[in-house]
Amino acid sequence: MTSIDLLIRTEPAAACTPDLAQGPWTFDAVPGYGPGSSMGDVIPVGSPRQGELPQAYRDASTEELHDRIRAAKAALGSRVVVLGHFYQRDEIVQHADFLGDSFQLANAAQTVPDAEAIVFCGVHFMAETADILAREGQSVILPNLAAGCSMADMADIDSVEECWAQLEALYGTAPDADGRVPVIPVTYMNSSAALKAFCGRHGGVVCTSSNAETVLEEAFARGQRVLFFPDQHLGRNTAKKMGVPTSRMPMWNPRTALGGSSADELLDAQVVLWHGFCSVHKRFSVDQIEKARAEHPGVRVIVHPECPMAVVDAADEAGSTDYIRKAVAAATEPTTFAIGTEINMVNRLAAEFPQHTIFCLDPVVCPCSTMYRIHPGYLAWVLEELVAGRVVNRIRVDEQVAADARVALDRMLALRPRGA
Ligand code: 13P
Ligand code: SF4
Repeated sequence: MTSIDLLIRTEPAAACTPDLAQGPWTFDAVPGYGPGSSMGDVIPVGSPRQGELPQAYRDASTEELHDRIRAAKAALGSRVVVLGHFYQRDEIVQHADFLGDSFQLANAAQTVPDAEAIVFCGVHFMAETADILAREGQSVILPNLAAGCSMADMADIDSVEECWAQLEALYGTAPDADGRVPVIPVTYMNSSAALKAFCGRHGGVVCTSSNAETVLEEAFARGQRVLFFPDQHLGRNTAKKMGVPTSRMPMWNPRTALGGSSADELLDAQVVLWHGFCSVHKRFSVDQIEKARAEHPGVRVIVHPECPMAVVDAADEAGSTDYIRKAVAAATEPTTFAIGTEINMVNRLAAEFPQHTIFCLDPVVCPCSTMYRIHPGYLAWVLEELVAGRVVNRIRVDEQVAADARVALDRMLALRPRGA
């Protein structure tokens, strides 16, 4: 059964749009992000666009595509490695050499120096990160260039530079008596390479949802406050868990004077939160949790920290995709889990752990519309092109940007997730 079959079949859920049953190539030529929860989001001008997938791949049956992928991988052997994020559809996951969350995949990209090509089945910022961490001469390939991330688009380098100039004017640049600088920039992994480079240049660091707490702890030791972008929810949920009151987390709305906060609020801030969010995770609500608790007494509710604060507070636990996976795998007694994260991952957990009852908190199942863009048709195409000696859809980060971004990524990789 394909993941789209699972989406359409899931009861009592309704797929958010019947368009999901179509091949993603239908949407490569349209301006938005296509079907799914972020279809209203606009792809920024200048983002890479996917060209037309050759007809043969669009016409091929799923079985034929699987055979072609397997044959191409066998022909390439250790010359290629396929990385897959947990949100990928099952038809892709079965071909991944490594499956993981953003932190694990960033690490994995570094552990395959012999591979000539890394095929990244995830989204654009993940492939950029792999290119930054890859060894010289390795090519990183994103099977569908339209696989972006609407949250990552919410912070662009110009807006962040403008914010930084305003904050420097307000805070100055001198350290306090304890040697702590006025502000440390922290970017979530879900951001462009340009923002990671910005952090590298300004004493900042990258975090993922699995090591955000460790990163903030280290940043608070070096700085009086943190500018956290682009995901307000991960920033707020993590800082709140560490004891920072929400009153000391003003929001920064880009292209507004002082981000829409007052000078006093910013001077008192411990974390300045960028106004970004994930369109998939903002769908989860406290009402859904209350309904799950009413209908399934004893249910264990686990959500991703990209969910709004009220949802994380109402849940039993919050953690990265790997945290969620490990929590389910570790349950020794049959348990009912209501999960607040992307539907492909929830459906896969439900299939993999039949001793548990596992369902998605949101009854209207919407996949991440950009993870959905990676389909076996594109994977077969990029792999067969490699067999023919051609590299298509290569993601290349400018050398200077990559050098600066590597500084912030190396700091991140040194700050392991708790318990890892
Ligand atoms: P993880 O780092 O938890 O895998 O999350 C990545 C992501 O994009 C979640 O929306
Ligand atoms: Fe971006 Fe949200 Fe999709 Fe993750 S789930 S890739 S944050 S749009």
